[in-house]
Amino acid sequence: MALEARCFAAYDGIFNRRQLRALLANPRAAWLIAGPFAGAACLLVPANGHGRWGRLYSLAVDPRYRKQGIAKDLIAASFDWFRAQGLTVCRAEVKSDNLAARRLYAAMGFVEGAMLPHYYGLGEWGLRLSRDL
Ligand SMILES: CC(C)(COP(=O)(O)OP(=O)(O)OC[C@H]1O[C@@H](n2cnc3c(N)ncnc32)[C@H](O)[C@@H]1OP(=O)(O)O)[C@@H](O)C(=O)NCCC(=O)NCCS
Repeated sequence: MALEARCFAAYDGIFNRRQLRALLANPRAAWLIAGPFAGAACLLVPANGHGRWGRLYSLAVDPRYRKQGIAKDLIAASFDWFRAQGLTVCRAEVKSDNLAARRLYAAMGFVEGAMLPHYYGLGEWGLRLSRDL
């Protein structure tokens, strides 16, 4: 919760305590935690067992630890984990005005796809991202 609060605002789609609890209890979700909660990412595998893509969710690095490559390490580790699950594509979403994250995802080989109107709230558009594994 503390990391979420340091990294996201309401219009960024911040998770509340109930949503985080549900994700922690979800057997399809795994969490990668960097150091002493310097950063975190949630990884979701498909529900039906047939999909070949996993979803990278809620990537966040504490402002005190940014610009040290932690997000890149978390993304690279998520690729390894998805591959170990037999998945071939990693998907994510990003706010269209989050230029730091868009640059990060581009550097990690993601391709920007469909626009997602009002995905993060009224007027707050998202972008679909995907990366072959
Ligand atoms: C986006 C975020 C995860 C980056 O974390 P980080 O650990 O600082 O990122 P890294 O040090 O691994 O940076 C990797 C690359 O991302 C890009 N990047 C990261 N921060 C950036 C910034 N402020 N401005 C521009 N590009 C940036 C750069 O391409 C950087 O590579 P470089 O250092 O070789 O130029 C972090 O700023 C954050 O938690 N932001 C708030 C939450 C958020 O937006 N999460 C993404 C949700 S989709």
